[in-house]
Amino acid sequence: MGHRIHNFNAGPAALPLAVLAEIQSELLDFKNTGMSIIEMSHRSKTYNDVIEDAQTRIKRLLKLPDQYQVLFIQGGASMQFCMIPMNLAADNDAVDYVDTGTWSTKAIKEAKILGKKVNVAASSSDRNYAYIPKQLNLDPKAAYVHITSNNTIKGTQWRTFPEAGTVPLVADMSSDILSRPLKTEPFGLIYAGAQKNMGPSGVAVVIIREDMTARSPEQLSTMLRYATYAKENSLYNTPPCFTIYVIQLVAKWLEETVGGLEKMEVLNQRKADLLYNTIDESGFYQGTADADSRSVMNVTFRLPSEDLEKKFVAEATENGLGGLKGHRSVGGCRASIYNATGIDALEALVGFMREFEKKNG
Ligand SMILES: Cc1ncc(COP(=O)(O)O)c(C=O)c1O
Repeated sequence: MGHRIHNFNAGPAALPLAVLAEIQSELLDFKNTGMSIIEMSHRSKTYNDVIEDAQTRIKRLLKLPDQYQVLFIQGGASMQFCMIPMNLAADNDAVDYVDTGTWSTKAIKEAKILGKKVNVAASSSDRNYAYIPKQLNLDPKAAYVHITSNNTIKGTQWRTFPEAGTVPLVADMSSDILSRPLKTEPFGLIYAGAQKNMGPSGVAVVIIREDMTARSPEQLSTMLRYATYAKENSLYNTPPCFTIYVIQLVAKWLEETVGGLEKMEVLNQRKADLLYNTIDESGFYQGTADADSRSVMNVTFRLPSEDLEKKFVAEATENGLGGLKGHRSVGGCRASIYNATGIDALEALVGFMREFEKKNG
């Protein structure tokens, strides 16, 4: 095996080494077919087993009741920003959005382009999105309430979800899906770009309840209707075969190696605690999110100056710690510590942080 770094990229991001090794071992001859997974028909029995296993495992991991379906839709999470209002809200329906930063802001923009009556039920823009709002001004007649469960850029995360009565929650879980168990009942639809916690880029995983699928308007183009993907089991056209295959392997790893989402959550919390404790104990590193809104997946922090931040990222890279630069829109530093980033990576990172502080603090 070649050289591998401790990978803190925000997405595309680290994948479990065991999954990469499995892909490598079966790339040339997938299950005795004499061809690779990316050379065979998406209508073959072999490929059908892959897509169905991916769906079954995701359902099992999240303990999804029967009325939910797992769909694979191209266009990433960003395509969902428009498919959701197109499919779930009629023209005159009000839709609630909670604005917790860049990704919710983009979702709101698309709902407005489509002419929906957007009610921003709460926003944390007053303090640069450093927190998750507690007071929501929800419309009881809204078609749905949209939230972003984890803001990848600002490092904030919903720890508990809003109570919206009978109005379904719709959540962008791109950066924390499968990181913890979930009570799915309040959710009508959950979506996530695959490239953080599930696999390579190329697809959004959409978990949809049957009453939401039934809302797809007949007059929408076929490829933009959830009902099409639900009816054809995400095989109406050629799906991103490789991406779905890797998602299947990651779901298998979560079930068989990690032992499920309860165990994954404990590991993720240990990793996050290690890093946040290091930040809190130092006067040198400063966390940017409010303590009660901190993300277990994306840890954002600043150093005393931008020069020191540049030096920190450069020296970390030299020491085999990659991907620590903050998002280009906000600067600072960010460690993305998704499921596949092990505790060993966190131990290496906090060790480096303490040394760096000693030399530069
Ligand atoms: C929370 C969240 N939503 C949406 C997106 C956009 O995802 P995609 O690039 O798959 O459209 C991202 C990307 O980083 C994200 O972090």
